[in-house]
Amino acid sequence: MISPLYNKLIDFSATKLSFHMPGHKFGTIADIHKINLSLLDNTEVVGMDNLYEADGIIKQAMELMADFYGAQNTIFLTNGATAGVLASIIALCKDNEKIIVARNCHHSVESALILSGAIPIYINPQYLQESHLLGEITPQDIRTALETYPDAKGVIIVSPTYEGIVSDVQAVADVVHEYEKILIVDEAHGAHFVIGEDFPLSSIHQEADIVINSMHKTLPALTQSALLHICSERVPYSDILSALRMIQTSSPSYMMMGLMDYIRCYILDNKDEIRRHYIDSLIEVRNNLKALKYLKLIELPNKQYDISKIVISTAYTNIDGYKLAEILNDAYNITVEAALSTYIILITTMADNKITLQRVEKALRAIDNSINHCNNKLIEDSFFMQDIAEGISLRKVYYADKEWMIIDQCEGKIITKAIMLYPPGVPMVCIGEVLMREHIKLVYAFKEKLQGIRLIDKNILVQVVKSTKSN
Ligand SMILES: Cc1ncc(COP(=O)(O)O)c(C=O)c1O
Repeated sequence: MISPLYNKLIDFSATKLSFHMPGHKFGTIADIHKINLSLLDNTEVVGMDNLYEADGIIKQAMELMADFYGAQNTIFLTNGATAGVLASIIALCKDNEKIIVARNCHHSVESALILSGAIPIYINPQYLQESHLLGEITPQDIRTALETYPDAKGVIIVSPTYEGIVSDVQAVADVVHEYEKILIVDEAHGAHFVIGEDFPLSSIHQEADIVINSMHKTLPALTQSALLHICSERVPYSDILSALRMIQTSSPSYMMMGLMDYIRCYILDNKDEIRRHYIDSLIEVRNNLKALKYLKLIELPNKQYDISKIVISTAYTNIDGYKLAEILNDAYNITVEAALSTYIILITTMADNKITLQRVEKALRAIDNSINHCNNKLIEDSFFMQDIAEGISLRKVYYADKEWMIIDQCEGKIITKAIMLYPPGVPMVCIGEVLMREHIKLVYAFKEKLQGIRLIDKNILVQVVKSTKSN
């Protein structure tokens, strides 16, 4: 009998050192590998409560989770942070209502806009010239957007970013609330902020109204385990719950919910031990990595940066991020979370310790000694077009007839497939935005680094709403 997927999974977990999601790293923390997960895989029978009408053990576990994080209410999600983003936007916006959206949001926001019919007002994150990463969303940009679009229902930002950069959420929240709007923070990558002061302060404690955490990314939970925290009276719990009921499975996984409950307890009981085996080792290894000659550990001041992410820039070396990831994988059996052209991302979690972290350090030092300096031409921030751009309804775009056309004929047309620049991983033109002459110039300049375009012979094609006699 051949079970290619099963066999590969078993083999992979036995041979590779994980620096990626899920954060339990094949069950190597909290004795997760010893738990018989099939015993947790239950359903809504007598005594087992019901996520959508919780009044028993699930309610109790969610209340304890809310206390742990400091939220007013916490709801377990079993379809990832994606479900939290979808439910929040669907609950907040009706058809044709506006919402201010940071351009670097996860694509679940795009799905939420299609489902809700809301109209996005895009704002840009900062671009950090030195590290070539997307930076924070500034309160000034939020203020300008709200002044221009006072009818917007709220704002959604992502903090921390995939690379670990956090915004000053308190300052953003102050502006959003001055305009009496709702602030949703996609904190998918920040579920672990709760474990210690070496990590940034969660948006839950910075007056965001809704905060969404993926527990499976940076804590030792099963894939798709996530949390939606309601942090103010501005958001009715019942609206969120009814949206969640619509977009999540009707059979929420007790295995995920049970393990989230267990992990919360484990962290509370083992805070000092986690500090010792994980955080202290992480700090030590980060300090050692500062000595790399050509590879560069990305560092920002503590309040602005989540040190759990080890982001290594290859920008000034003769290899790219893909090559670095390949060497780590092939020569050292270390699997990274993500490889991009100018950097790699490694996810560390409390499942790591001195041994795993030093293995990465040793590998990076050896690679650093075998490569050379190179002055690469890097991207300037000119791809950020307008500070604020109004899109059209993504629902209309989703259902519109579309066609691929040569870009030179597309000025003024509505883009139906985002044109993304990697890195830093932000759409140059989002779905529903009008393609402008300046965009076309930039697409020509960066065509090798773009996703969402087609290169056919010497032509660049983009996907747009199909022309009819009326448009
Ligand atoms: C910023 C951000 N938000 C939301 C999500 C969706 O999270 P999940 O995989 O838990 O659905 C991701 C996933 O990568 C993400 O990076």
